[in-house]
This record gives sequence, C-alpha cells and structure tokens, in this order.
Amino acid sequence: MRDVFFEKGWCRFPDDPVLLEWTRHVLPAARSALESPENAEWIRCGGTWNVGVNALPNDAQGKVGDGPELGGDAIGFIRGSLGMPPFDLDRAQVSVCYPGYPQPMDTETPSAYQFRLKKDAAHVDGLRREGPSGHRFLREFHGFVLGIPLVSASADAAPLVVWEGSHEIMREGFKRLFDGMTPDQWGNMDITKPYQAMRRQVMESCKRVAIPASPGQSYIVHRLALHGMAPWAEQATAGPDGRMIAYFRPDFGVPSDWLFAP
Ligand SMILES: [Fe+2]
Repeated sequence: MRDVFFEKGWCRFPDDPVLLEWTRHVLPAARSALESPENAEWIRCGGTWNVGVNALPNDAQGKVGDGPELGGDAIGFIRGSLGMPPFDLDRAQVSVCYPGYPQPMDTETPSAYQFRLKKDAAHVDGLRREGPSGHRFLREFHGFVLGIPLVSASADAAPLVVWEGSHEIMREGFKRLFDGMTPDQWGNMDITKPYQAMRRQVMESCKRVAIPASPGQSYIVHRLALHGMAPWAEQATAGPDGRMIAYFRPDFGVPSDWLFAP
C-alpha cells in the first residue's frame, strides 16, 4: 500500500469494520451539523454542494460524543507511513453533493464555472484565493487528505478525482518556485500564474481517476496531489443525504516537510 500511495499519490482502503462502526456512529452528528444555521454559509453552487468545512464536532482522536475514536487501517497507515510527527485530528469537513452539481453561482466567473464543470475544480489543498483579485498564496500545510464516505451513493455521484503522479510534478514546481526562500517566506509569494501552469502540465501528462467508495472504505490523497470533484452524472443516484464524505486534513506540523517529505 505504501508503494502505491507514494507512486500514484493516492490509495484506497477496502471494507474495514472498525471504520464502518465509526461512520455509523458519527452520521447522526454529521446530519444535524449540516442542518444547523451556523453551517448555512457553506452552501455553494446553487444549493448542489454543502462544503461543510469543520462541520463534524469530533475531538482530536476523531471521537464524536461518547463514540469510538477514529481507528482502522487508513489511520494506522497514516500514522505509520507518512512520516508526520504525532498529530491531532482537525474537525472533519463534511462535504455533501446533490443531483445537478455544479450549478453556476453569482460569485464565480463564467470561466471559474467552466473549470468546475469541465476540470473538476482541480486544486492542491492549502493554496488560498485572496482579495478581490483572487490571487493565490500558500496558506495551509496539510499533511494528507483522508476521505471517509458516510453514506452510499453511486460511483458517478460527484466522486473525488485525482491526477495520478501529480504530487511529484507539483513538488518539483514548488521547489523551483520557492528556491532560495525559507518556508516562512513561501506564503508571501503570489503563486497564481505558476500554479495555473503546473495544473496545466499535470492535466496534460497525468491520468485522471475517479475514486468512488462506500461506507467502511476510505482513501488517502497525497498532500501535494492535484484533485477535485467530478460533476454529478445525469444517471447518478444517492439517498436523501446525497453524496456525503467526511474529510480529515490535519496540518503536517513542520512547514518544510510539506514540500520535502516523501
Ligand atoms: Fe481539496
């Protein structure tokens, strides 16, 4: 699994009873968090996507209420193989998609909408858009992206997509870009243009794969890998919860490791 992960920039874990037990326990809390007024600000794309940032009220071990800690194969792999210092879990994002995703929004340009529709809004986490000009800066040093489906949906219901091997292209690009700078200076650089060029290079040279998964399964995406969310296919199906996935993205801990660690 380790070799596959570092070669392709992602891996999927098969049915895991420990993880299934965790998902069963947190699902009611995820549902009520998404319905709460505090989360309303995260609804996007004409109501077809609830971004649900930090929606899940879990603690640093992934426990919600008196439920189980987040355990199982994937979290064991992360703690054992990614070279991260011991870390606390962040509050999970609960990303929910509904039929028709993506609908255009007033707040996005026509070209941004086309990028969402045709190119899955492909991105590397932590490169934030800022100000009216929407220029991008490196702001967050995530250690990984762990995706945990909380409900069943068909494989074409807005799955996560990843460009295989893109993490090494991104790594080389950022190494060139930040050459001669210390990690505390990286965030000062406007990376908008070079980042666009890096994404183009990835799309021309890497294979795009969709990663559908069911409750009890999970997947890990390398922190530098280009990934996104496919549109909801016309024939896709899901229950009343839509396509609901919990994502954990704790900080790496050491900013330089974000770029240089395997
Ligand atoms: Fe992401």
